[in-house]
Amino acid sequence: MLTTREMQDEIIRLKKENDICILAHAYQSQDILEVADYVGDSYGLSVLAAKSPCKTVIMCGVRFMAETCKILSPDKRVILSNSEAGCPMAEQMDKELVLELKKMYPDHSVVAYINTTSELKTVCDVCVTSSSAVKIIKNIENDKIIFIPDCNLGSYVQKQVPEKDIKLFHGGCPTHIRITKKDVEKAKSLHPNALLLVHPECIKEVTQCADYAGSTTGIMEFAKKSDAKEFIIGTENSIVQHLQFECPDKKFYVLSKDCVCHNMKLTTLGDVLSCVKGGGEEIELSEQVLKKAKICLDNMLALGG
Ligand code: 13P
Ligand code: SF4
Repeated sequence: MLTTREMQDEIIRLKKENDICILAHAYQSQDILEVADYVGDSYGLSVLAAKSPCKTVIMCGVRFMAETCKILSPDKRVILSNSEAGCPMAEQMDKELVLELKKMYPDHSVVAYINTTSELKTVCDVCVTSSSAVKIIKNIENDKIIFIPDCNLGSYVQKQVPEKDIKLFHGGCPTHIRITKKDVEKAKSLHPNALLLVHPECIKEVTQCADYAGSTTGIMEFAKKSDAKEFIIGTENSIVQHLQFECPDKKFYVLSKDCVCHNMKLTTLGDVLSCVKGGGEEIELSEQVLKKAKICLDNMLALGG
């Protein structure tokens, strides 16, 4: 049996030999981040997916991220590192429901969180991520917006962009909603000098207590640059481990021990090794889905600049 180090060396050798780029979301485990060519949030991964010169991309994350990569780079082979890894929020709304909403509000633009299926993106106008939502919604010409499906991110955006009429439908992240206001009170009383950094997928009552709200990359950058020495982190708990690893002179505390995304944890280093050897699931989407969903993602990259 190979050690972690031997597996990593083999992955690095094979990815170079076979012109493969490995993209990893920041919620992946440390051993995977170490072999990735790029680690970041959903927006960063999308930009890289569109730019990467490699013929094959392995996405270590969840299905909608691999689909996004395929839509932005249709000529590449895009491999999802573990085919069971999906985002439950991405399945919360279907195309028919969005078409109904469009009939009810024909003068509204439909803004979809990137955590949606490629099928759903075909009937939306523009995608956003947690790091780009405020900027993109400000940049959309239309003042009437339907925002789907994360009502917590949507309500955070409503607060930042009060001049627009933003209607929220219909769900949220089952991982981040586990964090409660009580968790905030407890963590603050245990660590009174720590800054509270949270993801806007958290409920409103949590986000409004934060010293900073932003994407996974945003949280990490904030903590690294800050002069403060202690931080309570309100997002998937792997970020606490990564920050502690990168900033050993600072202290990081989990806001809730329950904030663990099991889907993001499905991919193992063994899966990545199997992918560079030709395994994993290759993402295939119909021509029609590729063409229509691309409009929504191209608009995101243009407006998110
Ligand atoms: P970001 O990495 O864009 O902050 O998104 C978090 C997330 O939940 C991804 O599924
Ligand atoms: Fe989906 Fe939430 Fe997991 Fe992100 S953390 S992949 S939004 S379930």
